[in-house]
Amino acid sequence: MNDAEHVNGAGYVTVRVPAKVNVQLSVGGLRPDGFHGLANVFLAVGLYDEVTAFPADGPQVTAEGADAAQVPLDESNLAVRAARLLASRHGLAPDVRLHIAKDIPVAGGMAGGSADAAGALVACDALWGTATSRDELLAMCAELGSDVPFSLVGGAALGRGRGELLTPLETGGAFHWVFAVADGGLSTPAVYRECDRLREAGGGGATVEAVPEPEASGALLEALRGGDARALADALSNDLQAAAVSLRPSLADTLKAGEAAGALAALVSGSGPTCAFLTEDAASAEAVAATLRASGHCRTARTATGPAPGATVVRQG
Ligand code: C5P
Repeated sequence: MNDAEHVNGAGYVTVRVPAKVNVQLSVGGLRPDGFHGLANVFLAVGLYDEVTAFPADGPQVTAEGADAAQVPLDESNLAVRAARLLASRHGLAPDVRLHIAKDIPVAGGMAGGSADAAGALVACDALWGTATSRDELLAMCAELGSDVPFSLVGGAALGRGRGELLTPLETGGAFHWVFAVADGGLSTPAVYRECDRLREAGGGGATVEAVPEPEASGALLEALRGGDARALADALSNDLQAAAVSLRPSLADTLKAGEAAGALAALVSGSGPTCAFLTEDAASAEAVAATLRASGHCRTARTATGPAPGATVVRQG
């Protein structure tokens, strides 16, 4: 690569991308393609990864942050796959170094890998000057993973299909959360498989393919629209929670500890093992986080508010 090839692009581009919590994750039947039909209500929250794209022979990837050692630095990194996909669509070489400043828990059920993929697409698009349309970016996000389109758009949204078909949702205010970060991650496919196994074991002969199409909860959407934390607390649900707890039984204690500390409600975030606690206000969130940190039921506890904006260019030069 030489400078002339980047005459329309930037020297570097940094994109900030939020984590998510699923305020409703209703899992339908197992589809022939191996995915499950979902009614998936995403809320982006203010824990962020930053992905910086630099010109380099590539693709290369580096990472920093407390959990950087858990970030794969090979072709399995979703950000690398994102850079390759964008480059191939535009007939370019994937010449980039992606640097990930990691603050979202790795394999934690908060879409950290998806965030990095969405961040890499936006950063490379600006670096290479490829001016990809929003619709094309969304389609590439969906190819990369079911949660990646939501990392691009942020805010709050209902995801149908396998979670990639998004309808933006209105929110009437900020919700205050605490996230109890566990030691070690959980594999998303393993948690879905456990969900199916539990359904088959308890289903009186019903097959996992025949689960009815899930729907978004009207009460939950109304609570989001009204910015009503208590109503949202009553409506939270996650069909993967039993499976995550089955694979990691200690999560039951973490959930109880946050509720005992004063959270309005507790649930596993996505496929876990991060546990999410909805609280009344910022002061309550800080108090719950402090109690959880001292409890020994998690590695650490973080506070964050949602909704948060989707992938955004924050620096370039
Ligand atoms: O889309 P993504 O690559 O993130 O999905 C990872 C895995 O999670 C899938 O291979 C599948 O096993 C499971 N999954 C699912 N149903 C979904 C989304 C993910 O079964 N709607």
